[in-house]
Amino acid sequence: MKNVKPKKIGILTAGGDCPGLNAVIRAVVKIATTKHGIEVVGFKDGYDGLIKDEYITLGNREASGILTIGGTILGTSNIANPYKYAVKRDGKVIFKDVSKKAIQTYKKHKLDALIAVGGDGTLTIASKLMKDGLKIVGVPKTIDNDLSGTTLTFGFDSAVTTATEAIDKLHSTAQSHHRVMIVEVMGRYAGWIALASGMAGGGDVILIPEIPYRMEKIREKLRERHKAGKRFSIIVVAEGAKPVGGEMTVHKIVEASTDKVRLGGVAYRLADDIEKLTGIETRATILGHVQRGGTPTAFDRILATRYGVEAMNLVLEKKFGRMVALKGNTMTNVPIAVAIGKLRVVPVNSPLVLSLKAMGVSFGD
Ligand code: F6P
Repeated sequence: MKNVKPKKIGILTAGGDCPGLNAVIRAVVKIATTKHGIEVVGFKDGYDGLIKDEYITLGNREASGILTIGGTILGTSNIANPYKYAVKRDGKVIFKDVSKKAIQTYKKHKLDALIAVGGDGTLTIASKLMKDGLKIVGVPKTIDNDLSGTTLTFGFDSAVTTATEAIDKLHSTAQSHHRVMIVEVMGRYAGWIALASGMAGGGDVILIPEIPYRMEKIREKLRERHKAGKRFSIIVVAEGAKPVGGEMTVHKIVEASTDKVRLGGVAYRLADDIEKLTGIETRATILGHVQRGGTPTAFDRILATRYGVEAMNLVLEKKFGRMVALKGNTMTNVPIAVAIGKLRVVPVNSPLVLSLKAMGVSFGD
């Protein structure tokens, strides 16, 4: 059969935002419109735009000057799920299946493909929409770096850079006041951001969800440093870190969200415990969403651009149901099902963990 070129495609960015989303949009639009004359519609606010048919036509003008800009020009949502759409009824949140509307929008535009840029939640929805007949290519995004099937997600490097800069700043004030400074970073159920920023920022203790900690071990490390004449310490804690036999610290529950749990606050809990246990003055800083904002690093701009180019290759080759991925430094692709199968967490004996342990960094275990 003759290879018919796609005429029109859609793109959406869903889930939590991160630096680099615009770089993907830019690469897709430039290749689609300039090189192949393919029309591109960008749905607003993730799947919400697909459900409500709210979109902007993306041409060269829209894709210009956005490479360095954080966030997403399309907007995003981490609650708009076509299969479980939250609506308020009598002040209560109820969920409706509005997937037919999303499918209708896709058909109305006569799309030849949809590029879904997102993490675990976005790609899980994409895989359902594929079963309902949509042709989808996935692009892996998340600061958490916890998607299976790819070595790296874009956004991670920018988040790690922001966290590292914060740790650097906390170092000087920790030194002046002879304090323990705890910095809490994001990452949800994976400790990648804590591990990487802890290594880059020279953390003395790094606590990640994959290695539950014991207060006693943290105390030992702080005492050891004190004895060696070091009068301050830096602890980098992932928001999902938990004590042995204990639970993660939940900040709030967002009922309308696919994953309702919002973690946060473990740093305060730790600070209180450390002060009680050691008598050393301790302060906690929670970095929060600052890690998701701002301009993407050069590394993320390059990675996101490569992902955008590869996503367009998949569309042109009609390889649907696949997510672009990085293996080593090689661009490849994997079935979306691989990416959403299970979260990619830090192996407890990963080379980074072992290197840090060899240098005396404590993981509280
Ligand atoms: O998945 C990205 C992430 O920033 C996590 O690291 C964090 O736990 C969560 O999203 C925060 O979600 P929200 O933006 O809904 O507060």
